[in-house]
Amino acid sequence: MVSDREIKNAVAVLRSGGLVAFPTETVYGLGADAANPEALKKVFAAKGRPHDHPLIVHIADAVQLANWARAVPETAHELAKTFWPGPLTIVLRRAASVSDLVTGGQDTVALRVPSHPVAQALLRAFGSGIAAPSANRFGRVSATTAAHVRSEFGDAVDCVLDGGAADVGIESTIVDLSGEQPTLLRPGWITAQQLKDALGMPLAAPGPASPRAPGTLAKHYAPQTPLLMMEADLLLELAASLARQGKRVAALARSAHQPLLSGVVWIAAPADAAGYAHDLYDNLRKLDAAGCDTILVEMPPQEAAWAAITDRLTRAAAGSPAPDAT
Ligand code: TXA
Ligand code: MG
Repeated sequence: MVSDREIKNAVAVLRSGGLVAFPTETVYGLGADAANPEALKKVFAAKGRPHDHPLIVHIADAVQLANWARAVPETAHELAKTFWPGPLTIVLRRAASVSDLVTGGQDTVALRVPSHPVAQALLRAFGSGIAAPSANRFGRVSATTAAHVRSEFGDAVDCVLDGGAADVGIESTIVDLSGEQPTLLRPGWITAQQLKDALGMPLAAPGPASPRAPGTLAKHYAPQTPLLMMEADLLLELAASLARQGKRVAALARSAHQPLLSGVVWIAAPADAAGYAHDLYDNLRKLDAAGCDTILVEMPPQEAAWAAITDRLTRAAAGSPAPDAT
């Protein structure tokens, strides 16, 4: 997979202020030394990301929390014990030394201990925090393979560690523990119910006093082709009607069976949430690359296990114009 030599080289790149893309169990990250402002600036430049969007600091284990957060409440220890290493990010009050480039100028810092063996090996060898947003250009579909990363950034990344396809496939759950009440800032594979069970208290929805998680508000995770979500029967009808007009349609189906139409690029996604999430961004990239006029996505089931998937698809669809199917 990834050799010791490649890890050593990646550490040298990080120490010299370069960018290293690395696999995590959720998606690939575009990593830089979290304590080096010049390196952090390169992350924003490569992504085309606004500077007020804070970055997640990845650490090897929960012991390092105290280096980055000035207050680590009991609830953080509780969640760390239950879910780390794993796809959970915890927002805490920042330590004074944390760069404003990491925090986006806020009083909080987001921290995560990833479980992917390559991420773990890199973090242990580096010995400090690696700030890493998802390895995609700003607003676009996240990368779940090394090939996706290369197609996003080309030579702008000094080193890409190839750890295979990311297991989970969608970004980590983000929970804010910096305020009075634990707050869910971004849904993910770890559900609100699991967090509630571990904490013994329900989670609040973000309010005006919650830390800003800009990436979770705007249109995001978006292919360049307009994307629409709808139930299976409507999808079939619309695909047929658009195809009759000579439009090229791409479809991401789950239960609907492929209609016998020409000009339709059809992907039948896994019917289970884990398989669907694992393939989601690769599927969106394939459908986007097919050169169609519209991507039609079959609505996911309204169940807790699908909440994070529905969240990502809803943001991917935000602002897409409705097709003219008349
Ligand atoms: O699974 C993941 O979380 C991946 C992998 C690479 O770890 N990373 C990721 O990073 O998704 P990014 O930058 O694409 O998304 C991080 C989200 C953004 O919405 C950002 O606004 C929010 O985390 N965030 C970061 N620091 C924060 C903070 N201090 N307070 C609130 N939100 C924060
Ligand atoms: Mg992202």
